[in-house]
Order: sequence, then C-alpha cells, then structure tokens
Amino acid sequence: MRKSLLDVLVDPVSRSPLTLDAGESADGQIMEGTLRGAAGRSYTITNGIPRFVLTDDSGQKQTERSFGYKWQKRDAWYSPEVQAACEPWFVKRHGFESAEEMRRFFGSHRRVLDAGCGGGYASSMWMDSSWQGTDDSQWYGVDISEAVDMAQERLSSMPGTHFIQADNLQLPFREETFDAILSEGVLHHTPSTERALKALAPLLTKGGKFLFYVYRKKSPLREFTDDYVRDAISNLSPEEAWDALRPLTKLGQALSELHAEVEVPEDIPYLGIKAGRYDVQRLIYWHIAKLYWRDTFSFEENNHVNFDWYHPKYSWRQTEEEVRRWCSESGLTITRFDDTEESGFTVHAVKE
Ligand SMILES: C[S@@+](CC[C@H](N)C(=O)[O-])C[C@H]1O[C@@H](n2cnc3c(N)ncnc32)[C@H](O)[C@@H]1O
Repeated sequence: MRKSLLDVLVDPVSRSPLTLDAGESADGQIMEGTLRGAAGRSYTITNGIPRFVLTDDSGQKQTERSFGYKWQKRDAWYSPEVQAACEPWFVKRHGFESAEEMRRFFGSHRRVLDAGCGGGYASSMWMDSSWQGTDDSQWYGVDISEAVDMAQERLSSMPGTHFIQADNLQLPFREETFDAILSEGVLHHTPSTERALKALAPLLTKGGKFLFYVYRKKSPLREFTDDYVRDAISNLSPEEAWDALRPLTKLGQALSELHAEVEVPEDIPYLGIKAGRYDVQRLIYWHIAKLYWRDTFSFEENNHVNFDWYHPKYSWRQTEEEVRRWCSESGLTITRFDDTEESGFTVHAVKE
C-alpha cells in the first residue's frame, strides 16, 4: 500500500482515523506493517495489502474460503475463451456500447471502488493497459478473501490502484469517499444482500454512481434444487466440492450434446415455465437444476461455473421489488434496471 491510502481509511469499528506503524520502501510502497485504530485495535499489512476482515459469521467465512479457492484455480477461469464469453455479457448488461466506453466511464471518475473485486476479473475487462490511473482517477479493489492478492498480482502494474482485504458490511473507508462503486456479483454472497447494499451506499458522494449485479429469484423447482444442492455441497471442503460437482457438470454436457429441442405446449405458471420451444439442457437449466455447460469452455471451466454457484454458502436470490425498495431506502435513485437476463438484475443508481 501507499501512504496516501490513509487519506481515505478509517478504523472500520470506531470510524476514527488510523495511524501507520511501518517503514516505506524506496518506491513508496509499504509491504508489511500495522495500522492502529481506536481501543487498541490493530490491522496488519502483509504483502502490501491492509487486512481488515473481522467477521465471525461462519457462513461468510465459508463463502470467503470458497472464493479464495476458486480464484486461485487459474486454469479454470483465466483463458481467452472465458474472457471472450464474459466481456460482451458484462458490457451488454451494463448498457455500454463497448469495453472502450466502459473504460472511459470508469476513467472519468475520481475514486472507483470495486466492492468484492475477487481476482480482479470484472475490472480487468476495462482496466487493461490503456487504463491511465492518475491522482484524479484511482481504483480501489476490496475483497473479503485472499483473492485480493491475486487481483493485486494482476492489476497493480496499472497506475492508481489500491488493494484492501475487507468486508463489504464493515469497510474501512470514510463516508462519501467514492464517486463510483462497482459491485459485480458480490452483494448476494454476503450474509444479507440488503445489508450489503445499505452499507455501501453511504460511501458514495452525492451524485455518485452505484453499478451492481445481483442474482434474481428463479422458478420454484430451480429454487428448491439450488438450496438443496447447496446445502449438501457447501458443507464439503472446496477440493471435495469441486470433485463432487463433476458428475453434475457431466450431465450438463450430456444434455447439451443431445442438441434436442422440446416444445412446451402451454404456460405452466406454477412452475414458472412459459410455452415455447426450448433446448432440453436450457429448459432443465433454467427451470429445474443448474447444470451448466458451454461448448467453448473446457471441462474444468464448466465445472468452475457450477462450483461458483453451488459451493458458497451465501448465494441469495432477490426479487425486483426487493432490489428497488432497498435502493430507495438507501437514498439511491435507479437510472437503469436491466432485467433481460434470467440470471440476475444489473442495476445503475445514483446517490441522492
Ligand atoms: C462471484 S465473485 C465476483 C468477483 C468480481 N466482482 C468479478 O466479477 O470478477 C464474488 C466475490 O465476492 C467476494 N465477497 C463475498 N462476500 C464479501 C464481503 N462480505 N465483502 C467483500 N467481498 C465479498 C468473494 O470473496 C468473491 O471474490
């Protein structure tokens, strides 16, 4: 970390300023040290990253371990094929014309918080070598898990980047620090999506923008299977869960390779199924059980997607009404609400 990070940091418990107990290297980096807060609390800096996670919630700790594990499995998500599938999906949901437009958007903000940056995957879509961080354009990547070390490894060569390990429900930042917050697929992995949204909103300046993606509620059978499988899988270690999900991934592959379609003759409202023609794998995927398979991904990459869905203990799904209400209660005016994806809602809101 650089000393200038202290300008925006506070003790996450008392919200009072922190003092730094560490030496600076010749290039102005602080690799190891201690940040001291109120009432004798202290927070370590290791590998150049200040660490603030205090939660004792067992579900959150399991979720943290799960993501720490999956992000370090680079072979399962780092390929150009995965990037090629994810970037257009990200750009479209957020209503940008291109990755370039997205880069200009984030670059035009003074302080951007990536709240739950993981290994820096989403941000790497726009923060590539042409990103020019300056004193007027800084990016702060926060994650509860050790994935933030990977984000640092991938993105710290970009100017104006900062990495912090912390909990979105208890972040060590002064209020009204950021003029943009991105939280892509994160809020629903905390103990409460609502609490996470409400904890982040005060960190925005007036007029600041909040861009987030959260899972949406699916049809009843799919919701049942999601909870049922997750209850079983999330109790396994990450390694065991990865292996336990292989048969499920293989079934997704087998169904996909059928290349078979089925006509649903009439709407079945109580199962959330609409009349129409479906690929069999997609019909099952959206309405009965998530058995992810995509031909352009390797087997491990497909298994990674199923692991990402079933292993983290916290993975809440929300209704549109809930998301709109939580925004309104947080002083956020929604400016864009994308519900075109069955998987989730992509929301842009402005702090009043
Ligand atoms: C699906 S990943 C998304 C990562 C990144 N936003 C992206 O799109 O590439 C969800 C991330 O949320 C993080 N996370 C879960 N609970 C969190 C919390 N309470 N505070 C901060 N990060 C959290 C996980 O560690 C994980 O890296």
